Parts: sequence; C-alpha cells; structure tokens
Amino acid sequence: MPRKPNENYTNAALQVGATDPYPQRRVGEFIGIVVANHSVNDEYKHVVLKVHEHALKAYAGQMFHLLCPSPDGAEVWMRRPMSVYRVDKAAGEVEFLYKTEGRGTRGMAMLQPGDEFNIAGPLGVGFTLQPSWKNIVVLGRGVGLATLAPLSQLAAAQGVGVTAILSARHDGVVMSRELFEELGARTITVLDSDGSSDVENVEQILDGLIVEGRADAFFTCGSNRLLKLMQRLGKQHDIPGQVAMEQIMVCGFGACYVCMRTFEVDGKRVLKRVCRDGPVFNMQEAVGW
Ligand SMILES: Cc1cc2nc3c(=O)[nH]c(=O)nc-3n(C[C@H](O)[C@H](O)[C@H](O)COP(=O)(O)OP(=O)(O)OC[C@H]3O[C@@H](n4cnc5c(N)ncnc54)[C@H](O)[C@@H]3O)c2cc1C
Ligand code: FES
Repeated sequence: MPRKPNENYTNAALQVGATDPYPQRRVGEFIGIVVANHSVNDEYKHVVLKVHEHALKAYAGQMFHLLCPSPDGAEVWMRRPMSVYRVDKAAGEVEFLYKTEGRGTRGMAMLQPGDEFNIAGPLGVGFTLQPSWKNIVVLGRGVGLATLAPLSQLAAAQGVGVTAILSARHDGVVMSRELFEELGARTITVLDSDGSSDVENVEQILDGLIVEGRADAFFTCGSNRLLKLMQRLGKQHDIPGQVAMEQIMVCGFGACYVCMRTFEVDGKRVLKRVCRDGPVFNMQEAVGW
C-alpha cells in the first residue's frame, strides 16, 4: 500500500529565500550557493556561501556538516564537520576556512561560484563569553585558528578585548590574522621557523598577558601541547578556559556515539560526544590527545 505523504514532514533542504516551515527548529539542512572559493595559501581555502537566513543563527565554535561533492566521480560517503569561520548576517553568508586534506575537502576545493553546496547545521555547543570577562586570550594553531577566529566577532559584539596568539609552521601558513585584526583583536604570531612557537616562549607571552590583566579567560584549538600549557597556567592562575575539540564524526547530531572522547569531570573520567556536548568544552575537563 502506498504510504501517505506526511504534511508535517519535510526532508527538503532550504534554498536561499525559501519559506521555512519550521522556523523554531535549531538545526536545518540548507542549499548554499557558492559566492567565492579562493585559496588563501598553499594549503587552505576560504569558501563563502549565500545561505537561507536560518543558517545565519550559527555562532562561534558551532559547526556545520557538509555534503562535499566528489572530486573524482565516486561517492563521498558521509558529511564532513567544519567550524563556521564567519557569519555575515548583512550579506546573508556563512564562510568556512578549510585545509584540503582528503576526498571530501578536495571535492569542496573544486566548488565554483554559483554552485550549490548542501550544509546541515548549525550543530553543537560553541563558545560562550561571561559578562565579567573584559579581555580574553585566544591561542591556536593551524586550522584550529579557523575555529577560533569567529570568537573575535563574538567578542567585538560584546565589547571584549581579544589577544590572539597565532601559531604556525612558517609565516606563509599563518591563518586568520586578517579576520582577527579586522575585528579589533591584537595579534601575536609565533612560528616554528624561528623557534618562537616553542612552548617556553608561548608561556612567557601568556605570563606577560596575565600580568597585564589581559587574560580573564583562555580559549584554544588545534594543538595538544598548547592545550596542556593553557590548562596548566589556567589552573595556576585560576583562569577559566574553553577548548574546541575535533573528532571523527558520522551523524554530527548525537545519535551514533562515534565521536566520544574522554573528559575528566570532578575527578571522574566520563565520555562525551564531541558533536553534541561540544565541540567546545571546559578546558580543564579536556584530557587531550
Ligand atoms: C568540530 C570540527 C570542526 C572542524 N573544523 C574545521 C575547519 O574549520 N577547517 C578545516 O579545514 N577542518 C576542520 N575540521 C576537520 C575536517 O572535518 C576534516 O579535515 C575533514 O573531515 C577531512 O575530510 P576529507 O574527506 O577531506 O579527508 P579524509 O581524510 O579523506 O576523511 C576521511 C574521513 O575522516 C574524517 N576526518 C578526517 N579528518 C578529520 C578531522 N580532523 N576531524 C574530523 N573528522 C575527520 C572525515 O570526516 C571522513 O569521514 C573540523 C573537524 C571537527 C570535528
Ligand atoms: S557523530 Fe554521531 S554522536 Fe557524534
């Protein structure tokens, strides 16, 4: 017997300008239109998508699950998680900064202006800023800086000062400096090529910021050794912190438990889903990797 279509159910991804039949829902599936997809250096690309207004609810630290096109005609199984890099509400656009790694991101790198790109989200729990924080320190490395960069947008909107320490192999692959600076953040670049990214040097920089009173909270993503450093200094100086974690994902919304990681809460080891309970967590609870 043919099934009756359910009028209350839709699996159609929302196109730009479409009427949203469920405006109250937190997560949606959208057909974005590629506005630009440029290389920012040898390794990273920046894609800008025009999206339905519902997708503009994304905030710093949240992610979308991207249905990447195939780079070679064969199926690309599963979506790829990607932090939102920027939300431009006035232009109706969301942006992602990504490293071309495997088949999914290679397919993404082939997108041209005008192409459609299916994204689902916004997913997960992002960064939060406490009203008492007047100055925060953001410390990230590599593509982790793509996740941290929109914090500067959140901080600017709330009048919070940002010092961003950007760690990279060499100056050619320093990510997100322009976005941080455009939004008023003070940036400090540390590099492997001149040794300034050594933990000892980064610790000195952090110590200086603590003494100057510019470190009401710590934020990090993209490096285990930088996480450990911020955890240690955070504990020592009673500075709260948040970390954005990465983990292989399948569903992206809490159903499959593929993205479990261990955390330490009140002295006990507990498992949490990075996609649903995070990807942003209390820095002191993260066990690292
Ligand atoms: C919360 C979150 C935010 C992220 N934000 C960004 C971002 O802003 N920019 C960016 O460049 N990358 C980001 N990543 C990493 C990005 O998801 C992977 O680079 C991407 O999935 C690789 O897919 P691929 O097909 O190109 O590579 P492949 O290696 O071919 O992927 C094979 C499989 O492994 C998974 N996978 C591979 N690497 C990762 C990874 N690091 N994290 C999770 N799954 C992975 C893929 O999803 C896929 O299922 C983020 C990951 C997470 C979990
Ligand atoms: S990816 Fe399925 S629960 Fe997190």
